[in-house]
Amino acid sequence: MQVQGRPTRTIWPSADARSVNIVDQRALPHTWVTQQLHSVEAAAEAIAGMAVRGAPLIGVTAAYGLALQALVDVGDAALADAAATLKATRPTAVNLAWAVDKTLTQLLAVPREQRAATAWSLAAALADADVRTNAAIGDHGLALLRPLAAQKHARGDKRPLQILTHCNAGWLATVDWGTAIAPIYKLHAAGTAVHVWVDETRPRNQGASLTAWELREAGVPHTVIADNAGGHLMQRGEVDAVIVGCDRVSANGDVCNKIGTYLKALAARDCGVPFYVAMPMSTLDLSINDGSQEIPIEERSAREVTHLAGRSANGEIVEVQLVPDGSAAANPAFDVTPARLVTALITEHGVIPATATAIATLVEGVAR
Ligand code: MRU
Repeated sequence: MQVQGRPTRTIWPSADARSVNIVDQRALPHTWVTQQLHSVEAAAEAIAGMAVRGAPLIGVTAAYGLALQALVDVGDAALADAAATLKATRPTAVNLAWAVDKTLTQLLAVPREQRAATAWSLAAALADADVRTNAAIGDHGLALLRPLAAQKHARGDKRPLQILTHCNAGWLATVDWGTAIAPIYKLHAAGTAVHVWVDETRPRNQGASLTAWELREAGVPHTVIADNAGGHLMQRGEVDAVIVGCDRVSANGDVCNKIGTYLKALAARDCGVPFYVAMPMSTLDLSINDGSQEIPIEERSAREVTHLAGRSANGEIVEVQLVPDGSAAANPAFDVTPARLVTALITEHGVIPATATAIATLVEGVAR
């Protein structure tokens, strides 16, 4: 993605391969801040503290975390400890464990003197693969959505294709492109008029602060809405499709994503609006068969619900309290949308139904 006119990734190693640079997403949309991570502890803190977030990006950050560890100690135990620290940062997005396990296995298989250099190239390869994956999801999503725009225009409806998205599954959640937002970028670049309804995504507001920011940077028309507005807009024919990302998809196609996704899927089904999920294969967890019962759901601080931060009129970032003193708050950060509510999964290998059979067939085809 272009940031201030320059092609930019969300994570990149420094030239001497001794640190890794990230965008501190907590400062957006008000300030562009980058940070240099020098240790595995700093990488773990960046993930746990949400300086970086989004399923694919936390996986890649963790792989760079192992590379940072490899500069200090490449022993089996040290690498395994670092891997455990990184995996413990966030429980729901399976991409994190996937990236750490895959990198660790490959590292332990090479002689110690090669491990540091190997760790940096594995992390870089994972980052490059993420970019290719998301670009492919964008292409498959484009092929799916363009006909929707054409049909809409054929009906005499001259409005842009209206897409609703939840949370941030865009450039900032990945190394580049995004997953759910990649097809939108491709549609926009192809000249199809598109407008995005951006769910604010309480309580952390990744939609309002991150998705809105990157769509604005890219010049894609969009409107931020309160989370509760989506059902109403769907009833009134103002949404042609919903596209969201995912943090873990079970073998039967249940989709775990940011809290509130399930309600959007229910409303979409009631209103006959297609509900698409952009799913890189790294988000698939074949060890889980019933997503709603088995996927671990991160419970985050109640303070994210009771308080809100934003920019005041004089430009300062201030935090305010929303609830009465003493009111309890709960903050489950993800929910699970049952496969039956998902119209299709958009993967890097093509678009498939969210069914156990289609998923198994795709996995088998990819492995061959
Ligand atoms: O808590 P977050 O901000 O990491 O949650 C992110 C999401 O839920 C995204 O939709 C998901 O990770 C997909 S990102 C391509």
